[in-house]
Amino acid sequence: MAILALEDLRVEYRTARGTSAAVDGVTLEVREGEVLGLVGESGCGKTTLGRAIIRVLPRNARIAGGRIVFDGVDLAALPEAEMNRYRWRSIAMVPQAAMDSLDPVYRLGDQFNEVLMVTGALSRTDARRRSLDLCDLVGLDRRRLGSYPHELSGGMKQRAAIALALALRPRLLLADEPVTALDVVVQHRILKRLRALAAELSLSVILVTHDISVVAQTCDRMAVMYAGKIAEAGPTPDVFARPRHPYTMGLENSFPNLLRPQETLIPIEGVPPDLLHPPPGCRFAPRCPFAIDRCLGESPALRELEPGRWAACHRAEEAGALRIQSQEAERWRVPVP
Ligand SMILES: Nc1ncnc2c1ncn2[C@@H]1O[C@H](COP(=O)(O)OP(=O)(O)OP(=O)(O)O)[C@@H](O)[C@H]1O
Ligand code: SF4
Ligand SMILES: [Mg+2]
Repeated sequence: MAILALEDLRVEYRTARGTSAAVDGVTLEVREGEVLGLVGESGCGKTTLGRAIIRVLPRNARIAGGRIVFDGVDLAALPEAEMNRYRWRSIAMVPQAAMDSLDPVYRLGDQFNEVLMVTGALSRTDARRRSLDLCDLVGLDRRRLGSYPHELSGGMKQRAAIALALALRPRLLLADEPVTALDVVVQHRILKRLRALAAELSLSVILVTHDISVVAQTCDRMAVMYAGKIAEAGPTPDVFARPRHPYTMGLENSFPNLLRPQETLIPIEGVPPDLLHPPPGCRFAPRCPFAIDRCLGESPALRELEPGRWAACHRAEEAGALRIQSQEAERWRVPVP
């Protein structure tokens, strides 16, 4: 069952240069107890999407359309005061660069108490007990509650940030690049812990990352985002084995990963479009080796090609043949304007 359903969600930023839609018509589901990976290049709108769900967008941003249905309630339509009831308690976020967001002047235990006693209304004794449980939950030494953030390693800080987000037992956790700044061994341990937590606590997780190999290790399902739109979504093993969208094919070619080992990595040349002036057709067309005339004029709709498998590409039905061609490095040397 879906705990969260995004329906045609649009988020706009107002800037001095004009209005850009950083999230443009996103439709996506998160099921109970699953880890959903949201992957895409820098600037494609992952953080904006996460922050829109919990409605903590910057002041120049607004939800310009669509629905955010959490447990049957459209959060996009809620007054701010009611939205507050959902933050931390039902939906919590580990923000991007979370380990730098811990307050440097307070010991970890005090920061836990702040959330547990002020937001969660727990007594000091219960907050202390819960803090110890939270340390155990994320695999952080209990003695670290007496430490200041600067006394902790990057991995410990990240665990602390995850523990803080879990403090009030949310049902949905938005984890924005939770392992990006960590070395691979620590990355692996934290991702394993996150996976285990999802199972133990029936927690749904949206794991935001630009690294498709992180998704391969951790996520039940995945959604690939490009320039504000969902390019492809489905169960992780199937998306890896049978990508339907050329962008996913390109991402797989450009990252080393265990599910699909390959000898040479092939980069996707070019850069994503300026969201203030996106191309009129498919946003990936300027970088896509398989673009045809139709792609230049008509934006491809996100379609369910088979149950649970979504892609937004005019040529999705030819994906089998495109996958073979996508292995040829020279195809990706598209003329980039
Ligand atoms: N406050 C803002 N005002 C205007 N534009 C913004 C603002 N924040 C983000 N953007 C733009 O919105 C787009 C999406 O940004 P976002 O941070 O959501 O991307 P991202 O996928 O999380 O990137 P990264 O992988 O680098 O974290 C980018 O083009 C970015 O420049
Ligand atoms: S719609 Fe066309 S340009 Fe876009 S990804 Fe598919 S083939 Fe490439
Ligand atoms: Mg981001």
